[in-house]
Amino acid sequence: MTSTPAWPAISGIAYGGDYTPEQWPRDVWLEDVALMREAGVNLVSVGIFSWALLETSEGVFDFAWLDELIDLLHENGIAVDLGTPTASPPAWFFANHPDARVQTRDGVVMGFGARGMASHSSPAYREAIVRIASALAERYGEHPAVVLWHVHNEYGVPVGEDYSDQSVRAFRLWLQEKYGSLDALNSAWGTTFWGQHYGEWDHVGAPAAAPSVVNPSQRLDFARFTDHQLRACFVAERDAIRAHAAQPITTNFMANQSWTTDMWAWAREVDIVSDDHYLWAADPEGEIGLAIAADLSRSVGGGKPWILMEHSTSAVNWQPRNIAKRPGEMARNSLSHVARGADAILFFQWRASRFGAEKFHSAMIPHAGTGSRLWREVVELGSSLGRLDELVGSRVVADVAILWDFESFWAQDLEWRPSEDVTHAERVRAFYERLWRDGITVDFALPGQDLSAYKLVVAPAQYMLSTADADNLNAYVAQGGTLLVSFFSAIVDERDAVHEGGFVAPLTPALGIRVEEFLPLREGATCGVRWRESDTLIADVWAEDLVVEDAEVVATYLDGPGAGKAAITRKRHGEGHGWYVSTRLDAAGLGTVAAAVYRDAGVAPSGLPEGVEVVMRRSEDAEFAVIVNHTDEIVRIPASGTELITATSVAAEVEVAAGGFAVIRSSERGTRGVVADPH
Ligand code: GLA
Repeated sequence: MTSTPAWPAISGIAYGGDYTPEQWPRDVWLEDVALMREAGVNLVSVGIFSWALLETSEGVFDFAWLDELIDLLHENGIAVDLGTPTASPPAWFFANHPDARVQTRDGVVMGFGARGMASHSSPAYREAIVRIASALAERYGEHPAVVLWHVHNEYGVPVGEDYSDQSVRAFRLWLQEKYGSLDALNSAWGTTFWGQHYGEWDHVGAPAAAPSVVNPSQRLDFARFTDHQLRACFVAERDAIRAHAAQPITTNFMANQSWTTDMWAWAREVDIVSDDHYLWAADPEGEIGLAIAADLSRSVGGGKPWILMEHSTSAVNWQPRNIAKRPGEMARNSLSHVARGADAILFFQWRASRFGAEKFHSAMIPHAGTGSRLWREVVELGSSLGRLDELVGSRVVADVAILWDFESFWAQDLEWRPSEDVTHAERVRAFYERLWRDGITVDFALPGQDLSAYKLVVAPAQYMLSTADADNLNAYVAQGGTLLVSFFSAIVDERDAVHEGGFVAPLTPALGIRVEEFLPLREGATCGVRWRESDTLIADVWAEDLVVEDAEVVATYLDGPGAGKAAITRKRHGEGHGWYVSTRLDAAGLGTVAAAVYRDAGVAPSGLPEGVEVVMRRSEDAEFAVIVNHTDEIVRIPASGTELITATSVAAEVEVAAGGFAVIRSSERGTRGVVADPH
């Protein structure tokens, strides 16, 4: 077998979406391929929910319709991302294996008629997924249309944790493997608390719903186990495919929706990272959440190009209020993903379903048909993306990293924490948003990784931090980095046990502080913070009794529970600086602090109006600026080079329409791009 290519065999940016022709008669298939050609579609994902049609009863296969479909797509020059249908086992599977159903934390055994009902710890399920994945790979592994494999669909949803008997048995084995002895388990979970001590392995169970709060260490381990079980299923399918097929293999992550899987660990198992992204309609600035998800998708894959496997042309159907995208928004969203490293822009789905739970979900061909604005925008987007071939393979440039550690998030967001107003997602968003508004591109990073390439590292919510990872951060600062740490970081070790020496103690070398006590604020309460003896910043949610051992006090609490105490500190440590912010500042306050931190780090904001997104992508011989204007005003941006979508040359300035975008190949390589440094 030949070696696996790094990217599907497609030229240019991939464009297309999930395609479910099994829901339509054959004459529609012919219309579909003609329209795909019109829209510039070059890749479609098929078969994702087709198990019942492909394996009609246990071990009996019918590939005739899929043969016909894949040949038709191939004849029309459309490549195939072939799904394995294991997110939706057929009715016969559950009839034959009733104990393979997933059970919720409250003990409800899931029924049939939806998707995602199978227990990932069920031996029968494991056997069945390998059988169907092998059969597909054997049949289509050498088909020239198939350029990519799409295993399963969105591991971890709609049900992640599984409390079935099969899962509990597997959890016990996983714990035995991890801890070796019951003594080690009892010690790691701190089972002397509330009399949880175990004398026999058979008594150890999953952290099912209980009258009060279940041991958080146990819950953290169950979250890790869940991630492990899901990943084991992926690996089993991947290896079954690999035995017969050489194309790259992926599975679609959900960077902004479900954090039940550890994307860093999963990225090591896939050939290419792919992500599904849907805007949260309740968020009026969905483009910021989009940017977070896109940067995370790129970062977990080590900066390599990634696939936007799904997004929507307009409204979804599963939020409380499903807000339609306004003219131009779909293209802007797409270009923001491209800006942040996506070399494939795909949608859920090609043609809107007439029946089923998703009939109100938008699609590339809406129910209104091809006479619609939406279809015209789909065609136009295909044409724009078709002019960006040069961009393919180029890498995003970032000087700043924000720490993102799934295990820490799993632990942080459990019950009975000091304040329910503090969540990991809120802190990440606040710091990311500041950087986004300042036009500074961000990678996400793990606390234990090599951070030396970054001028600034931000720890917005690093609740769980091992001493080894803390040492890495301390060393990063000593060697010249700037570290900005937000409150409720470095609180517990990897077992969710509070660090000896107290809160934040592992980072004392870099920060020069300790936290004696948390001082959360009442709901709605605010406090003032005196910044550098002049400005007053406004804060809420949280304050601390900070003990300053060896740091400059940059700001002090004016009132509230921390009145008179240090609120923000800065320490010179070795060649770098460690900043600590002990409260939740409002956006303006965070802006003031960020400006000072940027100066220490040598990082410059873009100087562009807020809402104008510019991201640099660099290849070996060219530099590109992808500009997306989210504002209602025309913007003029200093630039020289060629605008690729209109193929026009830009001498000194590019004008980007309100709500528009531009992609400039810069004529001055190595200038950090098109944007003039305003400082
Ligand atoms: C997910 C799924 C798709 C579809 C979309 C709808 O991302 O993977 O099958 O249900 O949501 O938004």
